[in-house]
Amino acid sequence: MAGTRAETAGKPMKTSILRVDISVVRLSASSKAGIEDTNTKGHVTIDDSHADAEYLRQAALELKTSDIPVAFPTETVYGLAADATRSSAVQGIYRAKQRPSDNPLIVHVQSVHQLRDLLRPKRRTNGSDELSSHDSSHSRDEMQRKQVEDPIPSIYTPLIQKFWPGPLTMIMPNPEDSVLASEVTAGLSTFGARMPNSPIALALIQLAGVPLAAPSANASTRPSPTTAVHVKHDLDGRIATIIDGGPCRVGVESTVVDGLSDPPAILRPGGISLEELRECEGWENVTIGYRDVAQSEARPRAPGMKYKHYSPKAAVLLYEWTSSRPTREVLLSRVGPQRRIGIVRTLNWPAACELSSTLLDTAPQDGTAKSFVVEDDSGGDVEVLDLDLGQSPEGIARGLFSALRELDAKHVNAIFVEGIDDRQGDVAAAVMNRLRKSAEQAITD
Ligand code: TXA
Ligand code: MG
Repeated sequence: MAGTRAETAGKPMKTSILRVDISVVRLSASSKAGIEDTNTKGHVTIDDSHADAEYLRQAALELKTSDIPVAFPTETVYGLAADATRSSAVQGIYRAKQRPSDNPLIVHVQSVHQLRDLLRPKRRTNGSDELSSHDSSHSRDEMQRKQVEDPIPSIYTPLIQKFWPGPLTMIMPNPEDSVLASEVTAGLSTFGARMPNSPIALALIQLAGVPLAAPSANASTRPSPTTAVHVKHDLDGRIATIIDGGPCRVGVESTVVDGLSDPPAILRPGGISLEELRECEGWENVTIGYRDVAQSEARPRAPGMKYKHYSPKAAVLLYEWTSSRPTREVLLSRVGPQRRIGIVRTLNWPAACELSSTLLDTAPQDGTAKSFVVEDDSGGDVEVLDLDLGQSPEGIARGLFSALRELDAKHVNAIFVEGIDDRQGDVAAAVMNRLRKSAEQAITD
């Protein structure tokens, strides 16, 4: 199997990108994952007459039998998946990413039924949603009985109704005799659960028949991948299979919420806004439980937040939206030995920050950056790679990680980034949250 093949041989394994056309997967009529969902069979149909279906089946088989994780697309970012119930498989994720193992992983499910099975102590995990005769013979008050009937904490009911499948991860209580591998939770008594909104992701979980633990499929500390090529760049030779479903629609990771704390809290900003959450019953007082690195040194609540994150090799210089744009002097002070700098623009900065109007006709074809040339004070050429992410927070989120990766691949010494107002909404907050973590320096003048 792919698993042992390469590792025991001590040489890097071949990493294949398998392109799967979206038309292979059809969401069935019952695909809306309501809280009433008791569907055990799943919500997607796979068209086996399509050649690409075989790729999904192969990936599912690897997930079931091998300890080498499989990369797959979700609507947020690409994930690196393993069977969440097998320790050796989950350890494979940490190995491939070179990620510290005290950082918990998100568990991806394809139905609410599958989540319920994870929340019930093992003795009730028999695929049935009925009360056993033993349970019902005991007198319990209404509240307790409800909990036996539905192990999903009721605070999450409106969120599941409204946002699943989608970019929302909810912190769930992990039962003592949980079927989840202990490496998934990194020793915590909770786990994060998410039902992704990508048909290919849902199909893969369904075919594997197990919940999938999956962090973002980047090497630890690097920007999250939003294309299959990004994954290959980071994990080439470390994994066997990348399922390619095209570029991710959202571009930043899911919102993580904790409804087990009082008041409930947002642990990581993502695609679901604070206002949208506040409209849900029980979430009127939801608080912001994350801190951007630039703002505080306090101990983080979500364990992933204490590590360096989302960082390209080049230094990221983040200009908060309130500060003026970098001057020629500042820009040229960071050219480095490659004589190349990068600029990522959003709302107001002009092309190449008006350093140069000479657009090189040798502009790179393999990305979206435009290439300008400018002479520095000693008469030497400097290349300015300029990327415009546009005005909308959604567009900026979609292009952000890709922009950082593209400029890195072109060996710029520093990347100047025009920040946006994080009070514009949660997608803007998510963008600024990721940028503050990746930045060497935040400019706030
Ligand atoms: O969009 C996403 O969420 C992507 C795609 C692949 O689904 N996944 C992702 O996973 O971003 P990862 O492992 O890179 O991020 C997990 C985040 C971390 O910030 C971690 O600390 C938090 O979720 N987390 C996971 N389990 C937790 C728990 N039990 N308590 C608190 N935070 C938790
Ligand atoms: Mg990540």
